[in-house]
Amino acid sequence: MPDKGAFITLEGCEGSGKSTQLGKLKEYLEKGGYEFSVTREPGGTEISERVREIILDGNETRMTAETEALLFAAARAQHVSEKILPEKAAGKIVVCDRYIDSSFAYQAYARGLGYEFISGINVFAMENCMPDLTLFFDVSPDEAFARKGGADKDDRMEQSGIGFHRKVYKGYLAVAELFKERIVKIDATRTVDEIFADVVAALKERNII
Ligand SMILES: Nc1ncnc2c1ncn2[C@@H]1O[C@H](COP(=O)(O)OP(=O)(O)O)[C@@H](O)[C@H]1O
Ligand SMILES: [Mg+2]
Repeated sequence: MPDKGAFITLEGCEGSGKSTQLGKLKEYLEKGGYEFSVTREPGGTEISERVREIILDGNETRMTAETEALLFAAARAQHVSEKILPEKAAGKIVVCDRYIDSSFAYQAYARGLGYEFISGINVFAMENCMPDLTLFFDVSPDEAFARKGGADKDDRMEQSGIGFHRKVYKGYLAVAELFKERIVKIDATRTVDEIFADVVAALKERNII
């Protein structure tokens, strides 16, 4: 067991295998008797889940890019202070499906709001709560959408078109270059078990497990 908590985030395009790997990691941590919690963004607290419904509403076509970015940051502010920081302080391994790098890839790069703006609003929202480790599941959106059988019709972000998701992917690659220490790039075109072996190795390397 780590003597203090850890905060791990999972990142990647829609269908890159985040939920699949999170499921396997959950099982692994349960079997190992670790104190951990699994959460997601946008969401993770009651208030943040309500903001999530607004952000992802597939029937909503009026939302500006700025509103979207601020809503993600608002949901994150509540999540960090109500859940992530207290659980990490209590010694848990907190594993989160998406976090700040999604804001960089989607809002800064793909929506074109720029790194400075997204970084600024998120520094305010995050209270310095940067992940100890981020696992980036590296697979192109073309390949990822093919294996999940297309985009989810009820999800506004997934419905943004393949051109948008190609920009998101480029954004992720840029962010991974920017934060080389924190972000571990994992080749997610392989089998679920091959990918998971790299997940475990990354956690061991950082002395998280
Ligand atoms: N390594 C893999 N190879 C092939 N298909 C995969 C792999 N990992 C996940 N999948 C499948 O791809 C789809 C999307 O995976 P999912 O874990 O839901 O991605 P995400 O949570 O990143 O959107 C699912 O149908 C899942 O079973
Ligand atoms: Mg998922």
